Amino acid sequence: MRIKLGVVFGGESVEHEVSIISAVQAMNKIDQEKYDVIPIYITKEGEWYTGNMLMDVEVYQDLDLIKKYANNVVLYKKDGAFVLQNKGLFKKIVTDLDVIFPITHGTNVEDGILQGYLQTIGIPYVGPNVYAAVVAQDKAYMRDIFKANDLPIPTYTWFYDADYKNNPDEVIEKIEKIKYPVIVKPATTGSSVGIGVAKNKDELIKAIEEAINYDSKIVVEEVIKNLMEVNISVLGNYESQETSVIEEVLSKSAFLTYDEKYVGSGKVKGKLGAKVTPLKGSKGMASADRKIPADLTDKMTKEVEELAIKVFKVLGNSGNARIDMLIDKKAKKVYVNEINSIPGSLAFYLWDPKGKDYTELLDDMISIAIKDYKRRESKTHSFNTNILQGFARNGLKGMKGKLQNK
Ligand SMILES: Nc1ncnc2c1ncn2[C@@H]1O[C@H](COP(=O)(O)OP(=O)(O)O)[C@@H](O)[C@H]1O
Ligand SMILES: [Mg+2]
Repeated sequence: MRIKLGVVFGGESVEHEVSIISAVQAMNKIDQEKYDVIPIYITKEGEWYTGNMLMDVEVYQDLDLIKKYANNVVLYKKDGAFVLQNKGLFKKIVTDLDVIFPITHGTNVEDGILQGYLQTIGIPYVGPNVYAAVVAQDKAYMRDIFKANDLPIPTYTWFYDADYKNNPDEVIEKIEKIKYPVIVKPATTGSSVGIGVAKNKDELIKAIEEAINYDSKIVVEEVIKNLMEVNISVLGNYESQETSVIEEVLSKSAFLTYDEKYVGSGKVKGKLGAKVTPLKGSKGMASADRKIPADLTDKMTKEVEELAIKVFKVLGNSGNARIDMLIDKKAKKVYVNEINSIPGSLAFYLWDPKGKDYTELLDDMISIAIKDYKRRESKTHSFNTNILQGFARNGLKGMKGKLQNK
C-alpha cells in the first residue's frame, strides 16, 4: 500500500513563493510507486487547499483559479485518522494522510509554528521538530546556543527594538564593543531581507532603523573579512548523520540579496528587500551562482563537515538541513553563519554529486521522519495521577499546595 504523503507549502511568510518552487520541484521527484503525493497549499492568508492542480507551478499565477477549483480544507484528527476535510457545506473528507512533509520556508511555517500544529494533532512529519525549528529560524537564539556550545561564530550581540527606542545610546555602546564594519540583521526574516552593513555610527543607525521595520529582535555582528561562503547539508537526526558535498557561493555584491538568491541572476545587484515574485523561470536556491565542490583543502573540508554535524546535533535537527559557513580565507578560519532547517530546493543539488539523487533524498527524509515518530511514540508522555480526583474533592483550596509544586 502506498504511503499517503501530504506535502505542505506556502504559508504566511516572505518566502512564500520560494516555498512553492521548492515544493513543486520536490513533489515531481517523489517516488510515485511508494508514495501517494497530496499537495497541501497554504495561502498567504492562511487558508489550506488541496488538489492535483497544485502540482503545477503555473497555477500559482492565478489565486482565483485555485480558490475556484482546489478544495479548501482543514487538517485534523478524526476517529484516530489524520484527515483533510472540505470546509464547504458538506464537510466531506477529501483524503486521509499518513505523513506530512513540510516544504516551507520562513516565519510561521519553518520556525516551529506549523510543526507545533502537526505535533499537536499527532501526525508524523518530515524535518525539524518544534525545538530545532524555532532555534534555526532565530539568529539570536541560534547564536546564543552556538556560543554556549563553543562553536566558532562571529562576535555578536542582539537587542530588542524596544531597547533601542528606549535607550539608543546604550544599545549603540554595546554594539560598538565590536569593531566596525558590522552587519545588522533582523533575527527572523531570512532571504537577506532587512540586512545591512555599517562602517561607522551613522551607517549603524541607518541599518538599525531599516532592520527594525522587519523584526523586533536585531542581531549585530562583526563582518568576516577575506570572505568565502560555503554551504553543506546534513541528513539524519540526532542519532546518525551524513554530510553532502560542500558548495561555494559566488556572489558579486557584498552579500547575497533576495534577487540573487531566488530570481536567478548573480549579475543583478538586487535592491534589499525588493518585492519580487520569483515565479517564472526561477530555480529557487539552486540558481544562485555556485561552485560544487568548493575549492577547499582536504583538511578544511573535514573541518567544515565535522562542524556541520556538531551544529546539526546541537539543535537536535532532523531531516536535511543546510549549514552555511563563512570562511576568512587569509586567516583560514571557519565560522558558522546559520542553519536552514528546510533549505531552498531542499539543497538536493548538494546530494546529487554524492550519488544520492533527489528521489532517494526525499525517500531518506521520509524514512527518518517515520523513525523519529516511532521513537517519540515509544517514550512515555503521560503518567497516572489522581490530581483531578483530588481537585474534585477538595476544590481549589485543597489543591493549592500541589499546584504550587508544579
Ligand atoms: N558576519 C558576516 N560577515 C560577512 N558577511 C556576512 C556576515 N553575515 C552575513 N553575511 C553575508 O550576508 C548574507 C546574508 O546573511 P545571513 O545571515 O545568511 O542571512 P539570511 O538569513 O538572509 O540568509 C550571507 O550570505 C553573507 O553573504
Ligand atoms: Mg543565509
